[in-house]
Parts: sequence; C-alpha cells; structure tokens
Amino acid sequence: MSIEFSIREYSASDEKEWLDLHAAIMVDSYAWWIVIHQKPEYKSEVVDLVAEVDGNLVGLITVEINSEVIDIVEGEYGFVWEFGVHREYRGLGIGKGLIKRAHEILNNKYVINKSIWYSQDEKAQKYYEKLGMKEIERHWQFSVLPDEKHKEILKEDGFDCWEMRGSCSVKDFEKIKKKYNLIEDDDALKPRLCIGYELEYD
Ligand SMILES: CC(C)(COP(=O)(O)OP(=O)(O)OC[C@H]1O[C@@H](n2cnc3c(N)ncnc32)[C@H](O)[C@@H]1OP(=O)(O)O)[C@@H](O)C(=O)NCCC(=O)NCCS
Repeated sequence: MSIEFSIREYSASDEKEWLDLHAAIMVDSYAWWIVIHQKPEYKSEVVDLVAEVDGNLVGLITVEINSEVIDIVEGEYGFVWEFGVHREYRGLGIGKGLIKRAHEILNNKYVINKSIWYSQDEKAQKYYEKLGMKEIERHWQFSVLPDEKHKEILKEDGFDCWEMRGSCSVKDFEKIKKKYNLIEDDDALKPRLCIGYELEYD
C-alpha cells in the first residue's frame, strides 16, 4: 500500500494538533513515559517537521542542533528529541521521509551530516538498527521507591518523597538493582534499556 503524504515545517499554530499526535504516538511506544502538555522549547535551533495526510498531522520529528544534553559525540550533530508516526500510518515510508528531509535541512542549512537518536522502546531500537544506525551508548533508565533512610533525610526538608527517577551504566545496573527498590511492576516506570545511535547521512 502507498499513500500520498507531504512534509513541511512545524508552525506555532500546529501546537494543539501536534500535542494530540504526540500523545497518540505514546500509546504504543515506550520512548516516553510522561504526557507532554506544551510543545517543548530548546536552547539551540531546531529542525522541526511534520508529515501530513489529507491536511491532518500524522508524523513528527524535532532535531536540536548540537544539543547540550549529551557530551559523548564529537563534532557537529543534530539530536533527535521527538520522532514518531501515528500507528494508522506506519510502514508507509513516512518515518524514512521525515529522516531524509530533516537531514537535507541539517546538511543545507547547518552543514551537518550526523544525527543522534536515543530510545528505550525496543521496536524503535529495531527500526534504527534496520536503517543502519550505529550504536554509540547504552544505559538503564528506571524509577526507585525511596527506602526509610532516604525518606527520613528528605523529610527533614519537608520533602515527602514518593519515588525517584534516574539512570545508570549497564555495568552498575545489577548492583543498583540489589541496593535500591526499583519499581518493576509499573508498565510505564519499570527499568528499560536506553540505546543511543548515530546516523551519518550524506
Ligand atoms: C519508528 C517509527 C517512527 C517508524 O515510522 P514508519 O513511518 O512506520 O517507518 P517507515 O515506513 O519509514 O519504515 C521504514 C522501513 O523500516 C521498516 N520498519 C518499520 N518499523 C520497524 C521496526 N519496528 N523494526 C524494524 N523495521 C521496521 C519498514 O518495514 C520499512 O522497511 P523498508 O524500507 O524495507 O520497506 C514508527 O514506528 C513509530 O512512530 N513508532 C512509535 C514511536 C517511536 O517509538 N518513536 C521513536 C522515538 S525514540
């Protein structure tokens, strides 16, 4: 099956529809664990694109130029904060189209040919590997229930702590699992392996 879609730049008037689409994409992806209520803003410039079918948003990609969120990549790059296609429109080349167009802009406007992708969603990881992306890093992300000792320390400041969120290297994960009370029974919060990839696109 093929479908006509178009790709254009995001505009501020898309915000509500963009947020609706983002929330719909979250339903069956573990790439995110919280709903967002406002379009995020970034420190650096962004390549911000949407895909449309019949005037409706069905896909999105947001790439920040040289984002400061990571420090392991040398040279210039685009960091992909948001990427997804509505489930009714997957497998039709829209994701690949968004990647291609984002890279055309990275190349032409910023003279950058590298993008960085992180995901804790296993299906997205397979997709990135299928597209030939190279793994650059992996770590665990998880949530923890504070033990009595932590609760007491935080309570001194009037902070009634329910849960904490963080990450660790693969090497430290077993140790951390033994020492801390990781939340394992919550589908959104349970530990997930987050993998970072690099894509070079000329
Ligand atoms: C990842 C995602 C954006 C891909 O978009 P898409 O429009 O379905 O992808 P495309 O149609 O461009 O697929 C391109 C190729 O990848 C293949 N593919 C699609 N999903 C795949 C998967 N999970 N694993 C392996 N290959 C996959 C397609 O079959 C296609 O192969 P082909 O070129 O040989 O025909 C989409 O699946 C999605 O929105 N997932 C949920 C959100 C998400 O997890 N985003 C990542 C955030 S980090």
